[in-house]
Amino acid sequence: MNTKLITANPAEVETECLIAFALDHGEDHGENKKPEPRLAVKDPAVEKAAADLIASGEISGKPFETVLLHRPQGLKAKRLLVVSCGKARSFTHVELRKGAGTALRTLKPKMIKSCAFTLPELSSGAEDAVRAIVEGAFVADLDPDTYRSDRKDYSTQEITVIAPAGSDQAKLQSAVDRARIIAESQNFTRGLVNEPSNRLTPTMLADRAQKMCESVGLKCEIMGPDKIKALKMGAFWSVAQGSDEEPRLIVMRYEPQGAPEKPVLGLIGKGITFDTGGISIKPAEGMEKMKYDMAGGAAMIGAMRAIALLKPKVKVISIVCASENMPSGKAQKPGDVQIAMSGKSIEVINTDAEGRLVLADGLHYARTLGCTHLIDAATLTGAVVVALGYANAGVFANDDDAYKHFTQALDRSGEKFWRMPLDAEYGDMIRSNIADIMNTGGRWGGAITAAMFLKEFVEDTPWLHLDIAGTAWMEENKSWIAKGPSGIAVRSLVEWVKSYEAGK
Ligand code: BES
Ligand code: MN
Ligand code: ZN
Repeated sequence: MNTKLITANPAEVETECLIAFALDHGEDHGENKKPEPRLAVKDPAVEKAAADLIASGEISGKPFETVLLHRPQGLKAKRLLVVSCGKARSFTHVELRKGAGTALRTLKPKMIKSCAFTLPELSSGAEDAVRAIVEGAFVADLDPDTYRSDRKDYSTQEITVIAPAGSDQAKLQSAVDRARIIAESQNFTRGLVNEPSNRLTPTMLADRAQKMCESVGLKCEIMGPDKIKALKMGAFWSVAQGSDEEPRLIVMRYEPQGAPEKPVLGLIGKGITFDTGGISIKPAEGMEKMKYDMAGGAAMIGAMRAIALLKPKVKVISIVCASENMPSGKAQKPGDVQIAMSGKSIEVINTDAEGRLVLADGLHYARTLGCTHLIDAATLTGAVVVALGYANAGVFANDDDAYKHFTQALDRSGEKFWRMPLDAEYGDMIRSNIADIMNTGGRWGGAITAAMFLKEFVEDTPWLHLDIAGTAWMEENKSWIAKGPSGIAVRSLVEWVKSYEAGK
């Protein structure tokens, strides 16, 4: 998809479709909830073209209604698409991103291959508005029907963003370019997550990571069973040993010239390309979904792509532990005791709690490589879905400053994470009779005991843990994004890294 930034009068723009956003200015005083939709573009010609529509009440301003007008009077555009984005009072880049995505996904099946966005005013500024539109459009353009033989190429060829005369072109162009890098990286992640396990084994995931690294100039090291065993990664290997597919330890390094020695940010991802549960096997129903159990790892690979292209002045090392979790004659069994790379002994109560095992060694390894701050992402627990549903992902932090950086990142990414506790009491739930810890903590607080398990391996290094089990896969189509892999965490990871950039 091409992106163009122009300064023009929207009425003069020749395009297949001009897009304007509408906002509800009605104040809801108790019962008086009468909507007052108005266009969010200050252009008399566009306002006039949409005047009858607005007066008709057919668009109320509720989030993401759309109306498409043909041959709008007084405009050079062939069509005018009005997309409502909710209350004017609470309008931010979050709604704009979804509104832009909705516009694109409305036009896409109609084979409308190009469109032009008018730029609504945001209190956070024009750069932020441009960023939200471009991110929203790129994310919306992706459909996951990769292997359908009747797949039609609906994809959009070009989007134009129309900036008002007098805007700072250079600044806005840079916002377009940066947004595009981030959204394309998010889509790169979504493409990986979408692949079924027979088409994306740990070996293939590592190959894809390596190719990506070559194309953006990142150092990449891939290690197999021998190296994993030589490093004494007993927890990682205990999961990998049950599969005929070899595991891969993927290490990607971004070490730009001029970056200070510290911090060194460590991005660690769970890359289980298929999770059967192992000997503690999962029920058949829904097991096909466990191809997305590498979404945390894929998020790291996508984030590293964006980081390499955005070039922040901060060192980053990313580690993805890629493996299948399979039952077999070689598979580990409940009750087995494993020694992690850190030396801690683990009683494996349930072989289906495999994500924390591979991450235990991934996190410890990151520390040995000199990482001063850690963040991991994993589709770790069904329990986080019980706790937070699909709207929020879980975030755990052992350090308030690292968490503060993360909340700043969320302000920019627009992604939703909810902080969960890590009180010492929960640690008692994973004490074992035979070893240092067990890999499950019983029925209650399952997302928290999983995080407590990881905490054992980060010691006192500032650390964040993202449990994206409920958010990495969209169960339904939304007007702004297709059902399937969401690419959650990529944007927040990139923003988190940027927040540590020298001088910030
Ligand atoms: N990959 C799953 C978690 C998961 C569940 C991801 C649903 C996406 C959607 C993880 O490896 C797992 O199986 N966790 C177990 C842990 C339990 C055995 C303590 C779970 O959540 O049931
Ligand atoms: Mn599992
Ligand atoms: Zn899993």
